[in-house]
Amino acid sequence: MPNEIKIAPSILSADFARLGSELADITSADLVHFDVMDGHFVPNLTFGLDVLRAVKAATSLPVDAHLMISNPDEMVEKYLDAGADIVSFHYEATAHAHRLVSLIHERGAVASVALNPATPVYALEPIIDDLDMVLVMTVNPGFAGQRFIESSTRKLRRLRRMCDEHGVNPMIEVDGGLSAQNASEVTRAGANVIVAGSAVFGASDRAAAIADIRRSALVGASKTC
Ligand code: DX5
Ligand code: ZN
Repeated sequence: MPNEIKIAPSILSADFARLGSELADITSADLVHFDVMDGHFVPNLTFGLDVLRAVKAATSLPVDAHLMISNPDEMVEKYLDAGADIVSFHYEATAHAHRLVSLIHERGAVASVALNPATPVYALEPIIDDLDMVLVMTVNPGFAGQRFIESSTRKLRRLRRMCDEHGVNPMIEVDGGLSAQNASEVTRAGANVIVAGSAVFGASDRAAAIADIRRSALVGASKTC
């Protein structure tokens, strides 16, 4: 049976001066991907809590907060307070991943850990049973519009295998360089949540772009191997 697919446009590629109407353009998506960068964990700075509150007020889609920040231990709770529905913090940024996952669960939100391209999937083995989602970065985090790292598909297969061995089925989100051209490749390897920044907001018809990515992703999901 094909996996359920979710499409998560990243508003990092939206026009920030017109964020309300940009959000109105992506109502056919499943999630709003919200990229928080702190200029320290990654060499770029984006938006934070106030913008998250504004986005929550302007959309009825769940907000998927991707925290590319050095201090998730201090900040996760604040993003939960601001209304994040899904919180992904980076494995590389904390010594207390299990504690943060428990905190996110206590607050009734969806707990996810993000992995940089150089972080192996086995880093998550001790906590994989507790995760609702794993975010596999398919570019080095920091910027939209980068090229998909091809070896990511091998990593996704390895992650799927690890989940199967544990008898768990977290959502697997992929982020970076994704489009209708390669969505089928990543869903075939086991991903089921597709983040797309430039492929959605760079298109004049955002609904058509989302539909194209979804179509491609479903083709891959039907051939999962
Ligand atoms: C990169 C961000 C991504 C980015 C994706 O650090 O985490 O979410 O916005 O943008 P595209 O789809 O253009 O690679
Ligand atoms: Zn992201």
